[in-house]
Amino acid sequence: MNSVARRFSRAALTYDQGAGLHRHVGARLLEILPDPEEVGRGRILEVGCGTGVLTGLIRQRYSDASLCVMDVAEGMVSCVRERWGHDLAMDYVVSDVRDFKTARPFDLIVSSSALHWAEPLGKTMATLQAALVPGGGLYAALMVDGTLAELHGLRRQIAPGKTPVGRLPTRDEVISAVEQAGFCLVSRKAETIQARYHSADDFFDTIHAQGLTAGPVSRAASPLSRTELTQLRKAYEETCRDPSGGVKATFEVLYFAARS
Ligand SMILES: C[S@@+](CC[C@H](N)C(=O)[O-])C[C@H]1O[C@@H](n2cnc3c(N)ncnc32)[C@H](O)[C@@H]1O
Repeated sequence: MNSVARRFSRAALTYDQGAGLHRHVGARLLEILPDPEEVGRGRILEVGCGTGVLTGLIRQRYSDASLCVMDVAEGMVSCVRERWGHDLAMDYVVSDVRDFKTARPFDLIVSSSALHWAEPLGKTMATLQAALVPGGGLYAALMVDGTLAELHGLRRQIAPGKTPVGRLPTRDEVISAVEQAGFCLVSRKAETIQARYHSADDFFDTIHAQGLTAGPVSRAASPLSRTELTQLRKAYEETCRDPSGGVKATFEVLYFAARS
């Protein structure tokens, strides 16, 4: 199990408490998904299902279709299986999307707030293309460069020698990976979300409890020291205050629809 999978597995029980942002993104993604009649009794794959924030919405909307939920974190898949285990139209798969293969391609693939974890995106998009029937749809929302810009900026000031080894893809990099994998882009939409937290401590605790501090976007060659972490929390509290109270954090989201 890789470190992202481990981190998200551990976060499965605490993820939902701070998932307001992910609920919002899932609901916006639902708005651009195809009509249920178009999907009918087809097969849907959800990539990076997490605790099932989007899963419930998909199940409600596409009640005639079958749904396979997949996540690299076993703890997340167990969580969804516990909630929907009685639903005979559902399947559960623990897999890294980059290694996913299927003998029975899907009519529709959906993914909310997950694909940015699966770099390189080119490989991920090629895998998803191979998992779709010809003309099948890929609908996704993912976080792009600029997300948590306040945090990354302060971190660069406080620990300039400890910048994370990775970064989120830009919008253009996502679109180019989608098109290079052979998809035809149908629509794209960007959204900047300013999330609010009670305090810097609440912000750090929430993103940690959700597993969002995993992976190369957060990890530097050497970790921040206790003192640097304390400085970061203090600086965040002072410089990222929201006029209506608490602190704010920016999330840049790209929504897109594409056909294979
Ligand atoms: C921020 S959560 C989003 C979960 C859910 N879709 C939601 O909207 O709340 C990201 C999810 O993507 C999963 N994930 C990360 N990398 C993945 C990969 N390479 N393959 C499959 N799932 C992955 C994580 O385990 C986690 O459950």
